[in-house]
Amino acid sequence: MSLEWTPLKPKIGAELRIDSEALLDGGHAGEIRNLLVKRGVLIVRGANLTDDQQRAFTRTLGDLRLGEVKQEGEGGLMKVTMDMRENPQYAEFFPGTFFWHMDGTYERIPPFATVLTPRVLSPEGGDTEFASTYAAFEDLPDDEQKYLETLQVVHSLHAAMFHAVPDARLEDYKVWMDYPKPTYPLVWQHKSGRKSLVLSTSASHVVDMHPADSRALLDRLFAHATQEQYVYHHRWQMGDLLIWDNTGTMHRVRPYDPASGRVLHRFTLNGEEPITAGAA
Ligand code: OGA
Ligand code: MN
Repeated sequence: MSLEWTPLKPKIGAELRIDSEALLDGGHAGEIRNLLVKRGVLIVRGANLTDDQQRAFTRTLGDLRLGEVKQEGEGGLMKVTMDMRENPQYAEFFPGTFFWHMDGTYERIPPFATVLTPRVLSPEGGDTEFASTYAAFEDLPDDEQKYLETLQVVHSLHAAMFHAVPDARLEDYKVWMDYPKPTYPLVWQHKSGRKSLVLSTSASHVVDMHPADSRALLDRLFAHATQEQYVYHHRWQMGDLLIWDNTGTMHRVRPYDPASGRVLHRFTLNGEEPITAGAA
């Protein structure tokens, strides 16, 4: 039987209707991957997977990330939480997750996709939003697309944290400044054939452009890409399973009380292609 799904918004998101047995047997894995690239975010309500099932399901979709990055814990499970005791390494990056971002822009090959399940919800706030940088690019006029395809952008942790930690100390800056500052094309020509804007809170400046013009351009593109029509707003329910294509979407979590104990369990799929410019 083919996969049953309905769009969440016309330009982003799909809700799958599939039972956990079918999720786990991998029979639909190819279709799910294709749909993920087509829709950017997939959700299954009432999936109710255990950690082991969530890991097994993630494995059906690609190459499970196993602890090569320090935030990942045992068996690839990462606990997304503001609780420093649960995940002190992740807490270091945490302030940035409230801003529109792609994960792993400090790595050569950013993760392909991520699978999340809520374990403890916050009573207020803590919704997660996703913006399709595929759709945002595809809707731009041809001449602007062509121009943007010629540009390169420097990404840095310092750029991401500057807004996220307004009361940062010199010691914080020292840690951030030590991170790699990769340069990526502004437009990603994916192997799938789709193109997307490579935007994230880590986007610092456009190469060879005056900083004033660069800031204006990046601000304008962020405003464009995060318009209502490109955004899916997810209100978490226990039992949810959510998958996003990290290469063609940005995401952010809405503010919530750090004392709420909110925890999501996360497994990540390694990236499969570096960010490559199209033939501009
Ligand atoms: C992440 C992330 C958002 C959330 O896991 O990379 O940004 O809802 N999480 O906590
Ligand atoms: Mn993130």
